[in-house]
Amino acid sequence: MKKVITYGTYDLLHEGHINLLKRARALGDYLIVGLSTDEFNALKHKEAFLPYAQRKIVLESIKYVDEVIPEENWEQKISDIKNNEVDVFVMGDDWNGKFDELKEFCEVVYLPRTPIISTTRLKEDIVNKVKK
Ligand code: CTP
Repeated sequence: MKKVITYGTYDLLHEGHINLLKRARALGDYLIVGLSTDEFNALKHKEAFLPYAQRKIVLESIKYVDEVIPEENWEQKISDIKNNEVDVFVMGDDWNGKFDELKEFCEVVYLPRTPIISTTRLKEDIVNKVKK
């Protein structure tokens, strides 16, 4: 069985997320998502609208996602890859080249992002709509 892993916050799920997860899953037979915990986001000075537990429930219900694990720090990727016997590490190309050191442990693939949409943009659009 070919295992794929990817990481992210997946807050306010949108089309770009689904496109990424669908293509990641198609690279293998089993997709693991390392989902940023609220504590890890705080460390990155990022705040998700939905708490981890809710983001996890939503993500687990997607047909392309087989397993969700917590992403708690920058360093866990190598041990996640080894412990889960991962074959392919996938990220959107906003991370191009950033994880090339993982090539020692598995295949590393950067997929093109879906244009325009993002959680940040979605939040801005909602705020602007409410203001009108
Ligand atoms: N992603 C994508 N296309 C988009 C938005 C995100 O392919 N339009 C991918 C990212 O590259 C990443 C994964 O989805 O591999 C999770 O990204 P995340 O940071 O959670 O989503 P964003 O919408 O980029 O969130 P934010 O605006 O808060 O950075």
